[in-house]
Amino acid sequence: MAAELADPPEESVTAAIDRVRSSVDALLAAFIDAHPAPVADPELAEGHRLLKEFVVKGGKRIRPLLCYWGARGAGGTDDAATVAAGAALELYHAGLLIHDDIMDGSELRRGRPTLHRSLARPTKHPVAEPFGHCAAVLLGVLAQAWADELLGAADPAVRALFNQMRGEVIAGQYLDVQTHLGPSVDRALTVIRFKTAKYTVERPLQIGGALAGAPGALLESYSRFGLPMGEAFQLRDDILGVFGDPGITGKPVTDDLREGKATVLIALAFAEATGSALHLLRTWHGNPDLDDARAADLRQVIVESRALTRVESMIDGRVRTGLEELRTCAIDEDARQALTLMAGQLTHRLA
Ligand code: IPE
Ligand code: IPE
Ligand code: MG
Ligand code: MG
Repeated sequence: MAAELADPPEESVTAAIDRVRSSVDALLAAFIDAHPAPVADPELAEGHRLLKEFVVKGGKRIRPLLCYWGARGAGGTDDAATVAAGAALELYHAGLLIHDDIMDGSELRRGRPTLHRSLARPTKHPVAEPFGHCAAVLLGVLAQAWADELLGAADPAVRALFNQMRGEVIAGQYLDVQTHLGPSVDRALTVIRFKTAKYTVERPLQIGGALAGAPGALLESYSRFGLPMGEAFQLRDDILGVFGDPGITGKPVTDDLREGKATVLIALAFAEATGSALHLLRTWHGNPDLDDARAADLRQVIVESRALTRVESMIDGRVRTGLEELRTCAIDEDARQALTLMAGQLTHRLA
């Protein structure tokens, strides 16, 4: 009898991460299957199929996992509600990525053609490209509408955070596409905070926390942990966007340079480079004719100007600040352990 009364064996942090990932994947697939196209049109059906494939196959599921640990950190036990909110965050993120790839002119995402490229391909018609863009805009909006539906009648505190998050990321994306303003380190730091750090780390943690009724002090700790961690995540993304291996990141490696993205990395290179190096940057950064050889020259300038080293130390500094907050805040011990593990994975990754 005693054996029957014993507590179930404790689930390890890594097992919980795997379980949440699978639950989110299953919910996303079921939700999308329950929302077939309301009109029988073969191209629309293909659009739905591609959207499902995009959402279900691939993606690190960072935001649902942070939402889950945000809830567990506050003692939350309602896994179903947390997984649903996490899946809603993932759908909203999918819509952002679909739109981001149109805006950034990207061809590759999660190791496959981006949605607007896939949608353009089969039509084999002169309007294929504009069609691909229009269809991807619509499917991105649909993913975000589904996110809203999935979040449903959430608690007002959760809904308020979700609403706030949407305004923040759109503002960040808006600032990001203002490439005509030229590179500035201060501005680039504002951009990464709004376009990435808030919606990727800070708000998902807080949404999870709010679901579990976290006290205000813990929500503030999530902010003090989440913002530097989210910034470090995007600083790593900027490095991978120039020096990464597309076979591993699943994303292109010259887009930021060709599009003239004013990332922190680039802004630092502009601030430090002189003479012919500065001339190379001015000529080729944001030049649609940038080829692989010129991209290699720009990479060398970024290294030699020490911009790369400086961004690496900015990442390290932010990780230290975030981890110090995590070490000292009042949070469930498993969540502390999981978030410590995730902090490393978010900021020192190859994909
Ligand atoms: C990509 O986010 C967009 C950024 C904010 C840098 P992720 O790196 O989380 O993308 P997936 O979901 O794993 O593909
Ligand atoms: C990331 O934008 C932010 C959002 C998608 C909202 P980026 O353009 O920097 O990210 P990747 O490198 O395309 O994933
Ligand atoms: Mg992009
Ligand atoms: Mg972008």
